[in-house]
Amino acid sequence: MAYIKDMRSLAAFYFSGTGNTRYCVLRLLERLSKEYKAEVFDISEKRDFSKSLSSADLILIAFPIYGSAPPYPMREFFKKYEKLFSGKDVVILETQYFFSGDGAASLGRAIEKAGGRVIAAEHINMPNNLADSEVFQIKNGEALKQTLEKANRRIDKFAKDILGGKGRRRGFSPLSHAVGYFCQRKYFRKGEAEKRKKLSIDKTRCVGCGLCAKHCPVQNLKKEGDEIVPAGKCALCYRCVNLCPKKAITIVGKAPPKDQYRGLR
Ligand SMILES: Cc1cc2nc3c(=O)[nH]c(=O)nc-3n(C[C@H](O)[C@H](O)[C@H](O)COP(=O)(O)O)c2cc1C
Repeated sequence: MAYIKDMRSLAAFYFSGTGNTRYCVLRLLERLSKEYKAEVFDISEKRDFSKSLSSADLILIAFPIYGSAPPYPMREFFKKYEKLFSGKDVVILETQYFFSGDGAASLGRAIEKAGGRVIAAEHINMPNNLADSEVFQIKNGEALKQTLEKANRRIDKFAKDILGGKGRRRGFSPLSHAVGYFCQRKYFRKGEAEKRKKLSIDKTRCVGCGLCAKHCPVQNLKKEGDEIVPAGKCALCYRCVNLCPKKAITIVGKAPPKDQYRGLR
């Protein structure tokens, strides 16, 4: 008689502004699917995740990094469900443009404090989505393809290591912690509240189509008549900046973007 192995359950929870993190999560889950039966959730959906968190053998948490810190919706998600992490095995996947120091561990330490065990953590370099930055370039087309090829290899190795029980915990060393904190998080978190209120819409460009309001993951944007009105609780995810058909939205930059990240919508 053939032996049928019981599959373990995996619940994946992600936040993704412009699709990079979602892409990585779906690829990782596909690679883990021979051993894990997975459910996947976008945490910006308004629903109760308690049951899925409680019953999972393995929890995957995934987010883009913002100044070596998780986005605030992910921090709020963790705060809300913190108790359910106790005794759980957790994998963390963080996406970044090029550097975060201790990006995965910035939430991983809190998970461990709550009694969870972070069995593996990885940072995946993905294209930049900070479209109104004067410093970082946007990649679409061929340049995007090349970045994705590297990312795919890293995700596949991460999956293999998890399945082999030897996943590395990237970002958990004291040196990574110090670098992440002193080079980025300290400054980013200090100015985060102001940045969340900074979103501005160029009224000479905006046509009031409402696409930004429709897709905002935290309902920060509301369409009132022909105007879009921000509520001052921006997640800084850059979805609206990259979606706006008139390039009318700016967040941390000085001017609306010249180029938009179209990559993985
Ligand atoms: C507000 C903001 C801050 C960011 N800070 C960093 C950073 O500190 N280091 C980095 O390498 N990438 C940084 N990025 C780039 C994103 O983390 C990266 O493009 C990510 O893959 C986007 O994922 P998403 O498409 O799932 O939202 C930042 C992006 C934004 C919008």
